[in-house]
Amino acid sequence: MTTKEILHMNAGHGETSYARNSAVQAITDLCEPTSTILPKSMAIADLGCSSGPNALTLVSAALDAIHHHCAQQQQPPPEVCVFLNDLPSNDFNSVAKSLATLKHSYGDLDDPVVITGIGMIPGSFYERLFPCGSLHFVCSSNSLHWLSKAPDDLKEGKIPMYDMVEHLRVSRRAAVGDAYARQFRKDFTQFLSLRAQELVTGGRMVISLYGRCSENPISRSNQAWQVVAVALNDMASRGIIDKEKLDSFYIPLYAPLENEVNEIIEDEGSFEINKMLVRNPFSGMDDATVSPKMIALSIRAVFESTVVLHFGSSEEIMDEFAKTVEQKLSSGSGWRAVLAAEYPLKSY
Ligand SMILES: C[S@@+](CC[C@H](N)C(=O)[O-])C[C@H]1O[C@@H](n2cnc3c(N)ncnc32)[C@H](O)[C@@H]1O
Repeated sequence: MTTKEILHMNAGHGETSYARNSAVQAITDLCEPTSTILPKSMAIADLGCSSGPNALTLVSAALDAIHHHCAQQQQPPPEVCVFLNDLPSNDFNSVAKSLATLKHSYGDLDDPVVITGIGMIPGSFYERLFPCGSLHFVCSSNSLHWLSKAPDDLKEGKIPMYDMVEHLRVSRRAAVGDAYARQFRKDFTQFLSLRAQELVTGGRMVISLYGRCSENPISRSNQAWQVVAVALNDMASRGIIDKEKLDSFYIPLYAPLENEVNEIIEDEGSFEINKMLVRNPFSGMDDATVSPKMIALSIRAVFESTVVLHFGSSEEIMDEFAKTVEQKLSSGSGWRAVLAAEYPLKSY
């Protein structure tokens, strides 16, 4: 099964929705347009926009940057066409509801950026989405660590992503990691080459994705889905979910190391890296305002569709999943220590 068939963030605005639980965007400062004269009309696209208010954060930042740039250069702002992409199962209804606010927020400014069209583009960003040479700016935040599918060689070889038997898990750790790394290389290369075709000459792209910290041996050897796998393993050992089902469960998610991202961009050859930022996603989080329960709800919002599709739709299983994740995060020296060991440390 491909990611297209299994993944969507939890819809709406309820306690378990993605909109209520996603991390703050960290790449908006990279959206500054740098060429002095902008074209009269521009097309910008956010790939993997998700649902709710977050869906518009990146395009809003890009529109703000265009507005400020034109004001500084005393240049009339361009007409802008905005495209929002995600998988077909995304909650595009909630995206559509937030669009009215985007149009209105630019109407109040002097000499506003004129949004001439907004399009929602359901489809995978691992396929062609736009005509050749039609986009000026592409952004994608927190999405490219989702692979097009889990590695075939693991599924075909019946090698579990996270073996319940510890010594097997340890002995296969490198093989599992390598299979995921190969799939990421294939997918990210494809993404770059497709976007290179869709961008105009001189077009720009800003992306952020989860990564692992190469200097931290624990982060280096673990996978992005570790905290989910540990919780499900615990639930299988208590008989809440089926052990055999756990063996055939693969999450199509990979958090690359910094040098992997650089190498793939260089090898693919269509893009030059202008700037790369690395940040610890937990550094701005205050223990007084962030609780293990909140983090467990975020993890549920992101992984629920994938877990439900494999183990069956059950509110009890998902409640137990969130509770188990919360317990793991509360154990020992606290959620920071658990996430530092079991979850990727950095995003690009
Ligand atoms: C964690 S959300 C990020 C949402 C938003 N960009 C943000 O930064 O808050 C990841 C999004 O990527 C989407 N996604 C994953 N694989 C995709 C693909 N192949 N094509 C398009 N969207 C994809 C998911 O459906 C999900 O909405």
